[in-house]
Amino acid sequence: MTTLSFDGMTVAPARAIRGSVRVPGDKSISHRAALFNALGEGEASISNFSPGADCGSTLGCLRDLGVEIERDAARVHVQGVGLHGLREPSNVLDCGNSGTSMRLLCGVLAGAGLFAVLSGDGSLRRRPMARIVEPLRRAGAAIDGRDGGRLPPLAISPVASLHGVEHRLAVASAQVKSALLLAGLFADGETEVVEPAPTRDHTERMLRAMGADLEHRGDAMRLTPGHALKCVDVAVPGDFSSAAFWLVLGVLHPAAEIRIENVGLNPTRTGLLTILQRMGANVEIEHERDVAGEPVADLVAWSSQLHGIHVGGDLVPLAIDEISLVALLGLFAEGETTVTDAAELRTKESDRLAVVAEGLSQLGGDVEATADGWRIRPSRLRAGRVDSHDDHRMAMLFALAGALGGGAEIAGADSVGISYPSFWTDLERVASRAS
Ligand code: S3P
Repeated sequence: MTTLSFDGMTVAPARAIRGSVRVPGDKSISHRAALFNALGEGEASISNFSPGADCGSTLGCLRDLGVEIERDAARVHVQGVGLHGLREPSNVLDCGNSGTSMRLLCGVLAGAGLFAVLSGDGSLRRRPMARIVEPLRRAGAAIDGRDGGRLPPLAISPVASLHGVEHRLAVASAQVKSALLLAGLFADGETEVVEPAPTRDHTERMLRAMGADLEHRGDAMRLTPGHALKCVDVAVPGDFSSAAFWLVLGVLHPAAEIRIENVGLNPTRTGLLTILQRMGANVEIEHERDVAGEPVADLVAWSSQLHGIHVGGDLVPLAIDEISLVALLGLFAEGETTVTDAAELRTKESDRLAVVAEGLSQLGGDVEATADGWRIRPSRLRAGRVDSHDDHRMAMLFALAGALGGGAEIAGADSVGISYPSFWTDLERVASRAS
């Protein structure tokens, strides 16, 4: 169903979608399991670690910071160095395409008492960093960067100590919240973080499991330093953000039944399930269980008749990496679908508001980008060429559009390796060719 071409992938229309998929380990949890255990005392084994290049970037940076890490297929073994055991790196830390690596490491390095420079690929070097640099400077960190600290590379110098600060975040961002809580581990007083809307809480869950003193007070997260972190083994659940592609393909294809096994269903990640339910999708959650403090289940999706809805407000951060799929869902729904309050998508691996509208329009979709979302009308998709702008989630979105419509030729198809290296083979397995 898929063939490799010179710089991209050609996806054929799918006659049916059938079968079951196991998606890679969760990217957010994998980053945190490696980084937090590196700062812990003892050692930890992480199973089902994400095979994506982003989490590989975090491991590479940690090795450059003197952390011993062994990797055997999906198992990663980390030898903790303790909060104050990182070694000054002899070269620039390469975060690749990974905003999570750069922002979370910044929080740690702000208090680690060493000099380090963080950089990454062309996409990462365009992403906004003032959101972490400014609050970390308020806590006493010495951080500099391009354009006054707004853009990478970022350079961090040692300081005598960080202060406890009350942060009121302007953007709902788990990366910013996590960076500030991590810096709080090195502060001389309490750190408080108030977010404008709830975002993924893997940092809070894992730091607590490792013995950090972290509590909710009203709408604030408060971290009291002075407690060592104990290494913990982590069984990483399947990534909901990867499962989301199969859910949407299953719901939208007229001849579909697809099962996705072992998917993390942390409620701060599953806004797309709420959206699918509101649009009238047939999705079932089976075998709900708890794995290492995170809810996990199997998901089943069937062909569905959808209706257009409005998506906005606090639901957006709960589906921040999946919200682009709403543009595709809207093309197949009855009536108009609108997305608002999603201006953050302009700051992701690509300007996703623009790239989604451009790509889906090229395939015949009626999608108009607005200042903070899209207006989407029912459309019939046709064959076409699209550019993922080397954004993994855009490449996978356009693959779905090709399979559901008249096929697609996708430039920058290799980018799926950032979060889901086996995406193309999984697509080949579940989709049968139209002819
Ligand atoms: C992530 C948080 C989100 C998300 C990203 C991973 C994390 O970014 O888009 O893919 O692991 O904390 P923001 O915090 O910038 O919204």
